[in-house]
Amino acid sequence: MDAYKKDVLDKALELVEDYHASDTSGHDVAHILRVVKMAKHLALANSQEVDIFVIELAALLHDIEDPKLNHPKGTVARFLEKTGVNESDQQHIFSIIEHMSYSHTKMGKRVATLEGKIVQDADRLDALGAIGIARAFTYGGSKKRPMDGQSPEATIAHFYDKLLKLEALMNTEEARRIAKVRTRYMKNFLMRFIAEKQITD
Ligand code: ADP
Ligand code: NI
Repeated sequence: MDAYKKDVLDKALELVEDYHASDTSGHDVAHILRVVKMAKHLALANSQEVDIFVIELAALLHDIEDPKLNHPKGTVARFLEKTGVNESDQQHIFSIIEHMSYSHTKMGKRVATLEGKIVQDADRLDALGAIGIARAFTYGGSKKRPMDGQSPEATIAHFYDKLLKLEALMNTEEARRIAKVRTRYMKNFLMRFIAEKQITD
């Protein structure tokens, strides 16, 4: 990758460190860095050629304007303009970020490119496994939601509503493999959770 692109990625990291610094909702800087690392891993595991610059930049910027986080709109656009990212990469990155959310998938919208599919898989994998369990309760706590109980808002309900469904939605083969391992672990966790409630453990 050329020096210009490296510099843009460094600047994007600075933006991420600024915007996600005080996050306690599971969207902290560590989440972003894990998504970047996983996206690179998925890109390497895939035999087709992909644009690694677009993948890294989209992964870095993907949660800056998440509606749940109440960050000001236009931050990503201003950043891409200011750093001189070309028009076609800008459009590609916008379209990845816009289409990768679970709510878009439920509406039948799909990410179009392999780069987008990889970033979406990386983000979704971070909602699974031990880290996924930790993030779900962190998010629930930050929204003052009950851990368990009858309420549909309870974090335990989120596992059945969304997290256990993610494995089937993975786009790439390597992500499917990892999702399978992580989902098995989460199901085990849920079984233990129920067993401990009933004191049958
Ligand atoms: P991402 O940050 O990966 O784009 P989300 O913003 O959908 O994904 O969710 C961030 C984290 O918060 C995930 O680990 C997800 O499981 C968790 N989360 C999202 N919505 C809920 C909810 N209603 N209850 C519990 N956890 C949630
Ligand atoms: Ni995310």
